Amino acid sequence: MKQRTALIAGASGLVGGECLRRLLASDAYTKVTVVTRHSLGSAAKHPKLREIVIDFAQLDRIKTELRADHVFCALGTTIRKAGSRAKFREVDFEYPRHLAELALRNGAKHFSLVSALGASSKSGVFYSRVKGELEDALRAMHWPSLCILRPSVIAGDRRESRPLERLSVALLRFGPATYRPVAAGKIAAAMIATAQREPRGVTILESSEIPRAAG
Ligand SMILES: NC(=O)c1ccc[n+]([C@@H]2O[C@H](COP(=O)([O-])OP(=O)(O)OC[C@H]3O[C@@H](n4cnc5c(N)ncnc54)[C@H](OP(=O)(O)O)[C@@H]3O)[C@@H](O)[C@H]2O)c1
Repeated sequence: MKQRTALIAGASGLVGGECLRRLLASDAYTKVTVVTRHSLGSAAKHPKLREIVIDFAQLDRIKTELRADHVFCALGTTIRKAGSRAKFREVDFEYPRHLAELALRNGAKHFSLVSALGASSKSGVFYSRVKGELEDALRAMHWPSLCILRPSVIAGDRRESRPLERLSVALLRFGPATYRPVAAGKIAAAMIATAQREPRGVTILESSEIPRAAG
């Protein structure tokens, strides 16, 4: 088995946290670097783990440290939490774009992005448009291997209360496969399984394809 190093952005979140647990437990990864705005506290105590606490607006300050074979990005906010569309765009577009640019320059081979169902730079919906613009920006970087996952609503145990999201998970469970909720653990497993193969060029995993890709 080829051994790799990994870097995660968004490790304190639902999908990123699942990525972190799986990568730390995997023999395929010798080192896991987490870039985070808040320390993960006791969750960051692992011999394979290195935590870098930084304001993402200042990623340039740690540019030489953003070095790994595989980058897993599950960063994101909501317009409500961010407080404005501009701030949302900063978190969901600017930070991941900048991270990808720096990691690629440092020799990363694979970038895995949690985007969203319906992401398109031509979308009339602001959220989907920002996600699509990020996808386009990543494609334009010509990663040796790029995986974009487009989940519908994400299911899992959140500390934070998101009643609308919980309702969508409950209702969509019985809906068409395209819209069915996807467990955060499945998304993380699909990200890692795909990274392991390092497929050349761009791989898109639509929501309904994620469970199978998770293996
Ligand atoms: N939730 C859904 O149903 C859904 C559906 C489709 C797609 N998505 C997308 O999937 C991705 C992962 O979703 P998730 O539910 O796992 O996300 P999440 O649990 O909300 O976690 C988001 C991560 O982004 C970080 N983050 C947020 N604002 C930040 C900032 N200003 N600076 C630095 N880090 C910041 C959070 O760090 P802190 O812990 O420090 O806040 C956290 O680690 C997101 O891009 C989301 O848009 C979500």
